[in-house]
Amino acid sequence: MVDLSVNIHHLKLANPVMTASGTFGYGVEFSDLVPLEEIGGIIVKGTTLERREGNDYPRMAETASGMLNCVGLQNKGVDYFCEHIYPEIKDIPTHFIVNVSGSSPERYAECASRIDELERIPAIELNISCPNVKDGGMAFGVTCEGAASVVKAVRKVYHKTLIVKLSPNVTSIADIARACEAEGADSVSLINTLMGMAIDIEHRCPKLSIGTGGLSGPAVKPVAVRMVHDVAKAVQIPVIGLGGIMTAEDAIEFMMAGATAIEIGTANFIDPAVTVKVKNGMAQWLECHGCKSVKEIIGVVK
Ligand SMILES: Cc1cc2nc3c(=O)[nH]c(=O)nc-3n(C[C@H](O)[C@H](O)[C@H](O)COP(=O)(O)O)c2cc1C
Repeated sequence: MVDLSVNIHHLKLANPVMTASGTFGYGVEFSDLVPLEEIGGIIVKGTTLERREGNDYPRMAETASGMLNCVGLQNKGVDYFCEHIYPEIKDIPTHFIVNVSGSSPERYAECASRIDELERIPAIELNISCPNVKDGGMAFGVTCEGAASVVKAVRKVYHKTLIVKLSPNVTSIADIARACEAEGADSVSLINTLMGMAIDIEHRCPKLSIGTGGLSGPAVKPVAVRMVHDVAKAVQIPVIGLGGIMTAEDAIEFMMAGATAIEIGTANFIDPAVTVKVKNGMAQWLECHGCKSVKEIIGVVK
């Protein structure tokens, strides 16, 4: 048996495969289709202090080897999460991580401090990289100062594992990662979606309601692998890699680039059980290649 366990700061994952925020709901919606306890971690929908309606439709468009979305962090707010979703998920034997967003450092911190009180939520992932909202979102994640201001405010009030999700829409993602580490982030995850656009040529208008959207899926994978490789060399904290992972081989590529764990997003829309299949495929690959632990492949590509 191959040991698939990995640690992200104090968070001990039974295996390195997690679901990416916004692509697997709160997990419970899929409990009839997927054995949730086999998933290393479930990163739930983006959560904000107040309820958000998200952007107008259409907010998804298919592209070659990927998709564009501009959902815009639709959610019912942190109070709803604490009162209605948390009781439903708290006894499921995997780790649930809440993805937190906000329009100011203070709002991020207020939302994070509410989640800090929930005993069975061991970590949050701060989304400073959403390209589809006007207020906050990616604005914080594209400068070192902006990223640092959010991490600093949250670190003061949040006491468990703090993961910061980085934007690829920057010149040097390694610099942003360093700024987050300096303010006390326990881990960074990357990448969020790449800004893109698609045009309906018959109607001569954008395919998405707000014009632009975030590109995800296999099309972004080489960009994501390169960025994980850059960031893993720049920081001491564990890196979580994502962007276009569809198979066990994709996941292994990210881990060789330096990721300690990985997340899967868009592939869930094709197959909601993809995380479990990737986890099993990784174990098989490692066994065939004589590895006793998944840790043996982390960062082997220098
Ligand atoms: C429909 C949709 C909704 C998303 N919502 C969120 C979100 O709420 N918070 C977040 O941090 N990332 C969100 N993302 C980004 C994904 O978590 C992930 O970073 C990105 O899609 C790249 O991974 P993938 O290529 O495996 O999908 C969303 C992506 C999609 C496609």
